[in-house]
Amino acid sequence: MLEQLEKSHQQALEALEKVQNEDDLLTWRADFLGKQSPVMSVFDNMRDLSKEERPVVGRRANEVRQALEAAFEARRDALKEQALQTALKTEKIDVTLPGRQHELGRLHPVTQTLRRIYRIFNEMGFQVYRSREVETDDYTFTYLNMPPHHPARDMWDTFYTNTEGIILRTHTSPGQVHAMRQYHPEPIRVILPGMCFRYEQVSSRSEMQFTQVEGLAVGKDITFGDLKGTLTDFARRLFDTDVRTRFRASHFPFTEPSAEMDVECFICHGEGCSVCKHTGWLEILGSGVVHPNVLRFGGYDPAEYTGFAFGMGPERLTMLLHQIDDIRNFWRNDLRFLEQF
Ligand code: DAH
Repeated sequence: MLEQLEKSHQQALEALEKVQNEDDLLTWRADFLGKQSPVMSVFDNMRDLSKEERPVVGRRANEVRQALEAAFEARRDALKEQALQTALKTEKIDVTLPGRQHELGRLHPVTQTLRRIYRIFNEMGFQVYRSREVETDDYTFTYLNMPPHHPARDMWDTFYTNTEGIILRTHTSPGQVHAMRQYHPEPIRVILPGMCFRYEQVSSRSEMQFTQVEGLAVGKDITFGDLKGTLTDFARRLFDTDVRTRFRASHFPFTEPSAEMDVECFICHGEGCSVCKHTGWLEILGSGVVHPNVLRFGGYDPAEYTGFAFGMGPERLTMLLHQIDDIRNFWRNDLRFLEQF
């Protein structure tokens, strides 16, 4: 039996030499150290041996088993090391390869226009004043000189909420009254940028959601001349140093007198083209001298104070600046459009 044991030991070691991977190694362990293996079955057959032989064979069988277990561990470590070395050789990192390019984000074209507008008015001493998007009916209409049921309210297609008197603002003008009520009787010079909402048929020229920038100056001795000077200067800074402008009489309930401002078409320089619909002029904002009723609602005495106000649409300005023909592009989230700015 001893002889048999030595032979099995030899066979096992030889077989182990040939093992080249983890799977074969596990098979090897089942074959040579498993319950049915020649070495392990020696323990089962002990009872066939004489009293004298038993301890000798038993000890040797134990030695062989331990030797095979050690050989198994050693082979496993060697295989692991081998795998690591091959991996190190074949999976080398080439540090000279160029890195992967990161996509750079950019500001939305309307945000870019807004920032240009902020900068220009900041240079003229106007502060940014933010006011809410969910408004009351009073701030949106009544305090702007449009009492309940006044037909002028129809000029703004309004989103109403389930709460009586609470609406989505249709323009940034309610912010005028918030600013006045906060600052009176101090003089004011603010711009009020923000999102507006209108229950409107979406088309290439109008969206349900868009930004506006409102402006308001209140103080003593403010005249229509200040309005013209400020806005003409604004247009020159935004478009071109010698762009021509004109004011056309208009009507808004919250200003008196009211005017719309046009700039000379910077595509055709007044000759007439499709962008200016062959008029040579582009309308860019509404404006006027603040109505005495609005001043009163804001807490100012119209006998002592006057002011001017204006409102413009940054989407429209962006369309003019970049010759964009469809306002829906701004919300479409199409990178082919957005990446151009
Ligand atoms: N709120 C007006 C609109 O949405 C725009 C406007 C016109 C604002 C004249 C003004 C203004 O402050 O004086 O159509």
